[in-house]
Amino acid sequence: MNDFPEIQITRLSPEEEPPLALLLLADPSEAAISKYLPAAAVFVARHQGETIGVYVLSLEHGVAEILNIAVKETCQGKGIGRRLLEDATVKAKELHAEKLLIGTGNSSLGQLHLYQKSGFEITAIRKNFFLDHYPAPIFENGIQCKHMIMLEKQL
Ligand code: ACO
Ligand code: ACO
Repeated sequence: MNDFPEIQITRLSPEEEPPLALLLLADPSEAAISKYLPAAAVFVARHQGETIGVYVLSLEHGVAEILNIAVKETCQGKGIGRRLLEDATVKAKELHAEKLLIGTGNSSLGQLHLYQKSGFEITAIRKNFFLDHYPAPIFENGIQCKHMIMLEKQL
């Protein structure tokens, strides 16, 4: 099923406003978002002029990382997240990155499912990342989000 056959994924220019409401779906800390945005590239998925998805890509020493990925709530579960991950893989290869990283919380079971199905492998755990960097406790799927699970894909 493809409800969004003609979405366009494009890079935002520095003058364009990043879609903060979407970025906050993936990362509840606006302070963290504003720290990593300036040095990263922001890509948005648009459908009939509306921004329905976003991902943020950084590149450092030949390693690319998806720092944030989100799809508008009413458009989730229709394959757009998968398409954003495919697009990020293509963009990271174009930047000659050797590998592409993505990190998510231990409680983000759906995201871990999606990333592994999209070719990412778990490589490391940043213990207590969310306890150390986020002021309020985060719960998902009845599980407290404490650790960052790091995954990577060789390009
Ligand atoms: N629970 C269970 N399975 C899920 C979930 C979920 N929450 N989300 C996606 N999946 C599965 C789908 O079932 C599908 O699997 P299948 O092919 O086996 O059926 C697969 O993942 C692909 O799903 P898509 O429809 O492509 O995913 P979607 O368009 O919903 O985008 C995303 C996924 C980006 C995680 C979206 O749900 C979202 O914006 N969530 C809120 C923000 C968020 O958590 N972002 C990631 C944080 S980590 C980071 O930013 C680095
Ligand atoms: N996917 C998602 N959630 C699950 C799954 C699953 N496969 N299995 C259990 N759960 C969840 C339930 O939804 C429930 O969560 P909730 O309280 O939030 O609703 C919770 O786990 C408890 O479920 P139970 O009904 O107590 O689990 P069950 O009696 O099914 O036993 C077990 C779980 C032992 C994993 C069983 O499904 C099984 O025998 N699976 C096949 C063998 C297996 O995989 N064993 C574990 C291998 S690892 C090891 O052996 C060390």
